[in-house]
Amino acid sequence: MDDNNTYQLQKKGAKFYEKNFVPSLFQKWAEISVQKLSLKESDHLLDVACGTGIVARTARDKKIENLKITGCDINPGMLEVASEIDPEINWVKGNAENLPFENDSFEKISCQFGLMFFKDPVKAIMEMNRVKRKNGKIIIAIWDKVEANEGYFDLLQLVENIGGKDLGLILRSPFNLGDKDLIDKILKLSKTPGYELETIQSFVEFPSIEHWIDCDVKASPIADKITDQQYSSLQREAKKKLYQYVDDDQKVRFNMSAHILTLK
Ligand SMILES: C[S@@+](CC[C@H](N)C(=O)[O-])C[C@H]1O[C@@H](n2cnc3c(N)ncnc32)[C@H](O)[C@@H]1O
Repeated sequence: MDDNNTYQLQKKGAKFYEKNFVPSLFQKWAEISVQKLSLKESDHLLDVACGTGIVARTARDKKIENLKITGCDINPGMLEVASEIDPEINWVKGNAENLPFENDSFEKISCQFGLMFFKDPVKAIMEMNRVKRKNGKIIIAIWDKVEANEGYFDLLQLVENIGGKDLGLILRSPFNLGDKDLIDKILKLSKTPGYELETIQSFVEFPSIEHWIDCDVKASPIADKITDQQYSSLQREAKKKLYQYVDDDQKVRFNMSAHILTLK
């Protein structure tokens, strides 16, 4: 069974995620994460909660000399897909709350849209600080509150109407750390000496409403919870109620808002 709150997908979900969700949404943010990392020759980059590896591959594509890349995720299905795409990158199964690496191992660390799924985000940040080398850098991307992400706020109303609060909670979970005060509390508890937070908007683009709904159902833990009837109703209602996000070319576009944290 997929796990609702820690974004655990099995291999089929992971493949769907890579083929559909990554190009529509995560790839664009990977460009932002990698740009903020300021990678340099001979850096060793650790991508925590790497999923199917989009941040690691985006870093690889910068062709920086002697850049070493390690991707770490708790989910074997995600890692299997990652390593089928690029077996050269070092993919490691591990828990962000107990990273399987020595102290001071990495110059650069990224964690894109993973922190909200960790059971103990304070411990995970302490772990990233532990494995980071002195003068290194950590970039963490966290979705802003769901209210600041209008496409998902409207989708959430539909999911709650059709599937009830339980399905709604799964769709809400990626946005659970959007409150800046909560982020500040987590960083203080992790004894991080200082950080910068920048809130960035960037639009996402799905080929159609149907495709958008499929990403959030089939490439998410909702897949195991939704009935066939609820899925059909969701597709039907989404075409009526989310029409404001469809452009003339039938593609869905809307802005998403995320906090990018820099820890040094
Ligand atoms: C929404 S995905 C993001 C994946 C990737 N960073 C991206 O941008 O496509 C969240 C990832 O967090 C991983 N994850 C959840 N809990 C974890 C933990 N405790 N340790 C490591 N990875 C974890 C999941 O397996 C999943 O791959």
